[in-house]
Amino acid sequence: MARIIGGISTSHIPAIGGAIARNLQQDPYWKPFFDGYPPVRKWLDEMQPDVAIVVYNDHGLNFFLDKMPTFAIGAAAEYQNADEGWGLKTLPPFPGDPQFSWHLVEALVQDEFDLTICQEMTVDHGFVVPLQLLWGEKKKLPVRTVPLEVNTVQHPLPTPARCYKLGRALGKAIESYPEDIKVVVLGTGGLSHQLDGQRAGFINRQFDLMCMEKIVSDPESLARYSIHDLVENAGTQGPEFIQWLIMRGALTGNVRKVHSNYHIPISNTGAGLLLLENAA
Ligand code: DHB
Ligand code: FE
Repeated sequence: MARIIGGISTSHIPAIGGAIARNLQQDPYWKPFFDGYPPVRKWLDEMQPDVAIVVYNDHGLNFFLDKMPTFAIGAAAEYQNADEGWGLKTLPPFPGDPQFSWHLVEALVQDEFDLTICQEMTVDHGFVVPLQLLWGEKKKLPVRTVPLEVNTVQHPLPTPARCYKLGRALGKAIESYPEDIKVVVLGTGGLSHQLDGQRAGFINRQFDLMCMEKIVSDPESLARYSIHDLVENAGTQGPEFIQWLIMRGALTGNVRKVHSNYHIPISNTGAGLLLLENAA
């Protein structure tokens, strides 16, 4: 049977992709951010997951305001990265796992989560940057991927409680897959940031650190926040944190924090990184 070996959450800012392209990892601005990742890469090297489920939000590349699914899941053999206007070099397609994707779709619909099924899907920085951070130097990505996309753009957004429940259902769905594969769940985005309006540039370090602590020990308390609470405390783009809650909900076993890092600012955000191991 499939096994969930852990969850990783990380910011997904497009400027990170630019810094990787220009080899700025040792630059004083970037170093405290990139220095967070080697322990997570080492853990991945040791654990050798087969599949990464990437919970992320599309930023207008694949879905736009005219058609906006609340939740969508990829069921394609590969996912194309396309230009989204940040000046990032597009990367080769990411391998999918259609058989596993369809299993997840079947199980989630049975469990009353009706996701939009995408047999074609382009992926933007929300999906690509975390994979680059975690496996970037490898010539070939050593995992197959399943994109799970969440609307964090067009209100009304799904509530934190709904996202946490989707995570629980996702965890059950993964563990009912009969193949012996090891799965890691990635929650991307956040932490506090606001890209527009009067509070543009708003970051709330104290709230971010509280979220990083509580998501380990008491995720239910975070699931009780409303989207408006998240906007107030973490800025207009702060609700990307619901993707961390989906990741956390999927961890069904004994959860142990292995590593974390937090650094501000990276571009406009409080940049967080968290590695949670999930023991049966
Ligand atoms: C930035 C952050 C994001 O989450 C995003 O999607 C785009 C840009 C930023 O801080 O620059
Ligand atoms: Fe974003």
